[in-house]
Amino acid sequence: MRVILLGAPGAGKGTQAQYISEAFGIPQISTGDMLRAAVKAATPLGLAAKKVMDEGGLVPDDIIISLVKERLEQSDCVNGCLFDGFPRTLGQAEALRAEGINIDYIIEIAVPDEEIIKRMSGRRVHLASGRTYHVVFNPPAVPDTDDVTGELLVQRDDDCEQTVRKRLKAYHELTEPLIGYYRNLSMNGSADAPKYSSITGIGGVEQIKKEVIAALNS
Ligand code: AP5
Ligand code: ZN
Repeated sequence: MRVILLGAPGAGKGTQAQYISEAFGIPQISTGDMLRAAVKAATPLGLAAKKVMDEGGLVPDDIIISLVKERLEQSDCVNGCLFDGFPRTLGQAEALRAEGINIDYIIEIAVPDEEIIKRMSGRRVHLASGRTYHVVFNPPAVPDTDDVTGELLVQRDDDCEQTVRKRLKAYHELTEPLIGYYRNLSMNGSADAPKYSSITGIGGVEQIKKEVIAALNS
């Protein structure tokens, strides 16, 4: 099974991705996590990406597409995968299609901008795994500590309000058109058309998880 999680920054893609990945036994491919790993390792790609990410922009398509292609060649992707934060432009979506990679489900998580701004200041992440928490809405068992490894949680560099607003702008301009693109694709009547579901991402994490899993079982 191949799934795309579509939604604004902070909509809850990463949070739900963890559950989907476990429930369906498919790896999560988060281009954001991959880029943050490259930044941490100070690779040439990481150094180039950091500037763009800190400014709330999008990393160029060619870099992202080759990163994803390379990831898809790994053996754990043979039975499917979950894309989190990819594709994010029409160019990336077309590249995925050109590779002949068929998508079974698109799950859009819809959250208004002002709710997102409120959420971001409370986000804490375990950088090595990408596990995501919120100090109020989804707290770890021990404050600032990852539930699995016991390691320290951190705030992301791009989670300040000014950068979040820029990321939202990039989302509306460059990523939101994918909603229409995938809705059209889902209605084209072909046997391999993906199923498109839009889920309201406001409410408890558990409730949203139930709705996401139900959509993936439909
Ligand atoms: P990326 O890491 O993908 O960031 P993003 O899309 O901006 O999304 P986020 O990770 O911020 O949010 P999320 O939807 O995963 O929400 P989360 O579950 O964490 O990308 C970072 C940067 O890398 C980009 O800006 C870009 O520069 C670059 N990049 C990445 N991919 C790219 C691509 N394909 N092309 C070009 N550039 C790319 O939840 C947010 C918070 O809310 C958490 O604290 C969580 O605990 C909390 N929360 C979750 N659900 C709920 C709920 N229901 N109620 C209350 N709180 C909740
Ligand atoms: Zn994320």
